[in-house]
Amino acid sequence: MLKTICYISSSTQNDSLENIKEMYSKAKANNSKNNISGILIYHNGNYLQVLEGTHKDVDQTYIRISKDSRHKNIIKVINSDTEYRIFEDYNFGFTILRDSSEFKELKSYLNWLKNANHKITNELITMVENFIRTIG
Ligand SMILES: Cc1cc2nc3c(=O)[nH]c(=O)nc-3n(C[C@H](O)[C@H](O)[C@H](O)COP(=O)(O)O)c2cc1C
Repeated sequence: MLKTICYISSSTQNDSLENIKEMYSKAKANNSKNNISGILIYHNGNYLQVLEGTHKDVDQTYIRISKDSRHKNIIKVINSDTEYRIFEDYNFGFTILRDSSEFKELKSYLNWLKNANHKITNELITMVENFIRTIG
């Protein structure tokens, strides 16, 4: 059985592109090793992350991430069983979005996903859409 965790948090550091890139490549390497798919979005000092995978992999990864002092005020907004991954095929499974062209891509991907009309999917889509709404 697979599960999904979605959380939001605030960054504690001055996030230079270099810092974000470094964290992102570590996250991407670890997640691919652990068969975790998802997205990581950084905007305006806040993160939104979706993690998908087996219960064990997702829970262990989330525990590790939640101890990281580079962010705080971590709020888990979704913590549910799921039958399938929705970000498996999205840009090699794990991505960080920075500019508006990437947000546009994500928005069209989310619109495409809406056809699946799955409860958790729709909850996730709403979370992500609200988070990126201000970006344009
Ligand atoms: C916002 C944020 C998101 C992160 N996302 C991931 C992630 O998806 N996967 C991951 O392994 N580490 C992620 N990390 C890094 C972990 O907190 C931790 O530093 C890292 O997993 C340690 O890996 P290591 O034990 O291989 O050195 C994230 C950190 C932050 C601040």
